[in-house]
Amino acid sequence: MTPLQDPNRVLIFDTTLRDGEQSPGISLNAQEKLEIAQQLSRLGVDIIEAGFPISSPGDFEAVQTISRTVEGPVIAALARAQAPDVDAAWNAIKDAERPRIHTFISTSDIHIIHQFRSTREDVKGQARAAVAHAKEYCDDVEFSPMDATRADVEYTAEVLQIAIDEGATTINIPDTVGYAMPQEYAAFLTRLYELVPDLHKVVLSVHCHDDLGLAVANSFAGILAGARQVECAINGIGERAGNAALEEIVMLLATRQKDIGLHTGAVTKEIARTSRIVSRLTGYPVQPNKAIIGRNAFAHESGIHQDGVLKERSTYEIMDATSVGLDANSLVLGKHSGRHALQQALSELGFEISGQTLNTAFKRFKEIADKKKQVTAMDLEALVTDEIRQESGRSGYVLEWFEAEASSRRNPHARVGIRSPEGEMLEGSFGGDGPIDAVFHAINAATGIDAKLHEFRINAVTGGQDALGETSIVLDVDGSRGSGQGISTDIIEAAASAYVRALSNAIRRRDSEGAETSLVGAP
Ligand code: KIV
Ligand code: ZN
Repeated sequence: MTPLQDPNRVLIFDTTLRDGEQSPGISLNAQEKLEIAQQLSRLGVDIIEAGFPISSPGDFEAVQTISRTVEGPVIAALARAQAPDVDAAWNAIKDAERPRIHTFISTSDIHIIHQFRSTREDVKGQARAAVAHAKEYCDDVEFSPMDATRADVEYTAEVLQIAIDEGATTINIPDTVGYAMPQEYAAFLTRLYELVPDLHKVVLSVHCHDDLGLAVANSFAGILAGARQVECAINGIGERAGNAALEEIVMLLATRQKDIGLHTGAVTKEIARTSRIVSRLTGYPVQPNKAIIGRNAFAHESGIHQDGVLKERSTYEIMDATSVGLDANSLVLGKHSGRHALQQALSELGFEISGQTLNTAFKRFKEIADKKKQVTAMDLEALVTDEIRQESGRSGYVLEWFEAEASSRRNPHARVGIRSPEGEMLEGSFGGDGPIDAVFHAINAATGIDAKLHEFRINAVTGGQDALGETSIVLDVDGSRGSGQGISTDIIEAAASAYVRALSNAIRRRDSEGAETSLVGAP
């Protein structure tokens, strides 16, 4: 039975790579997006919204690469209700096994009058033309009336009828600004079903933002009102306060399945790893008390709770940590483990690597195993993600070496060697407030780029004194923002790598911004 034939099946539409990537400071390149898309496929999502191809050449390339490589889910691309957007979306996804064009236009007067300086009639015409044009390319077409929850329901219904008449197969109702309340959102959908009976012939979808912390509650209310597709993002990332968190929706439907009677196709054991990969590649940390995937989500602090869980897990736990894949630390390698053991361990983690990539990973594994007694699955994941970053960052600046002096009696001082994108070796030195600050200034001196640090975070990948350090940096170059991450057992080295990657990403973004289309009306 296909999902559509099963009335109890809820489709998971993941928008981590599109709405999620619109979070400030996130700049994923094509290779990083592909890595996330492959993991989303392992997670069993039904649809991956891979990007907004007209927005930049980089986004187009990423969507195209994902379409050509990732098997399983439908690959969707976003397009405003304009012919050039629809053309770009189609050109980017046409090689996918199952492509989808997702086109949108606002139906709220607030947007129509103030943003587009247009009219309701004009919006109807644009919606009709865009869906018809998308349909010339592709059977699977989704239409969204942006800012629907602040729009007139009768007018929105007229626009939806037009989209359905032109062949839209999914109708998505965005709560674009996160303003709705659950009962209100459900009533809005119920009213749309009354006004547009043809909605029963297509998939109704929900897309809720979290400005009032209600994204998941609103999405759930929408499902109970009849929606069978949820648009959501890993770790709840997205525009402003973010989107509904995928892991929360999926685990809500799984944990309370007996009462709700609905199910998804998600492989819940892949949730924790997907969350870590997204957090690592985007540089967006997960808050410790985040539902489902926060590090405290299954931790019990009070003695009474600990006592209860030790006697019987269900006393204080409604889910089993292993059901979301939070047992990843069981896999352990040591410094005597060989190349084959590493390859097998990585394969268990879903990373199929061989040849030169395996050699490089093995070399780094040995370096880490020499410094750390035990290398766990978490370490391996961090290491492989770092390798991906390294590979995809080869076209930017690369940290070759560094020296840093720290002393309470002398001013800290650092020297660095950086390879430029053209292959030239650059050196720089500087004094700073501390050794890390000195390294950052030395990198600026070597590259001649006046990068301004915006955010700097250090985390330990696992517990223990010999844990790998993981750093995340956000910086600005000439007003363009870039983020970068690095891992090492030496936090100065991790910080320096992250800084150089963030600087390269900011320069890429600065240079591509000139090539970007002006996105009036973008979500
Ligand atoms: O929030 C929004 O309205 C969107 C649409 C493009 C679906 O992201
Ligand atoms: Zn959105």
